[in-house]
Amino acid sequence: MYAIIGGSGMAKLTALQNPRRQVMRTPYGEPSGAMTFGEFAGAEVVFLARHGYGHTLSPHEINYRANIWALKELKVEGVISVATVGGIRSDLEPGTLVVPDQIIDYTHSRKSTFFEGSEMPVIHVDFTQPYARALRERLIAAAAACNEKVFDGAVYACTQGPRLETAAEIERIAREGGDVVGMTGMPEAVLAREVGLDYAAVAVVINHAAGRGDSLQAIKLEELGEVMHHSVVRAVRILNSFFENAP
Ligand code: HPA
Repeated sequence: MYAIIGGSGMAKLTALQNPRRQVMRTPYGEPSGAMTFGEFAGAEVVFLARHGYGHTLSPHEINYRANIWALKELKVEGVISVATVGGIRSDLEPGTLVVPDQIIDYTHSRKSTFFEGSEMPVIHVDFTQPYARALRERLIAAAAACNEKVFDGAVYACTQGPRLETAAEIERIAREGGDVVGMTGMPEAVLAREVGLDYAAVAVVINHAAGRGDSLQAIKLEELGEVMHHSVVRAVRILNSFFENAP
C-alpha cells in the first residue's frame, strides 16, 4: 500500500473508492488529519491531507514527524507527495508538472529529525539523492503512459513561509540552483528517509516565483485557483496511471 500526501488544492482524493477514515496518534503528536484508506485505480492506498482537511495548517505548522511516523506505522511501501510550487526556471511555467530530483532546504526551526533526545543514538542519514529513484522513475513512466508531460528532474527549494519570497530571495535561490520553490518538501522528505520510506513528489507549478514572469510586482496566490485546480487534476491522472500500471 502506498501513501499519498496531498498538498494545496488536494485536500481530498475524490477518486478514492470506499473511503474509510482512521484517526492516529504518534509519539510526536497528531498527524495533519485522519488517514483515509480506500481503493484508487484498483490499488489500496492511504491518503493524508498535508494541510488538514479544512486547509488549516500553514507549512510551518504541519507536524511532519507525526505524519511520517503514522505512515511508517501503517507499513506503507512508499510515499507520493503532491505539492504546489512556484516556478523559478523560465521553462517551468504555471501549469507545468515536475518530478524533482534534488532539494535545497531553506527552512528553519522545524522539527526535522527523529534522531534527537538522550535516548537516541547519533545517526547521520545519507541524503545525497533525496528522492527514491525507482519511485521517481515509476511516476515518470506513469505520466508517459497517460500522455501527461512531466519534467524529469528539478531542484526543489524549500522555504520557510508562510510568506512568499522576495524577488531578491528568488534571484539568490536561482543562483544557488533552485528550479522550483515550495514550503513543504522539507522536512517531509528527510523524515521519510530517516524511517526508511521511499519518497517522491509531483510538484505542480501554479505561479511564476516572485520577480519572475507575471510575478514581477506581486504574486496573487488567491487568484491561482484555476491553474491549481487543472494542474492538480493532471497530477491525479498520473497517480491513477501509476496505480493502474502497478506491478
Ligand atoms: N513560493 C513558495 N511556495 C509556493 C509558491 C511560491 O512561489 N507557489 C506555491 N507554493
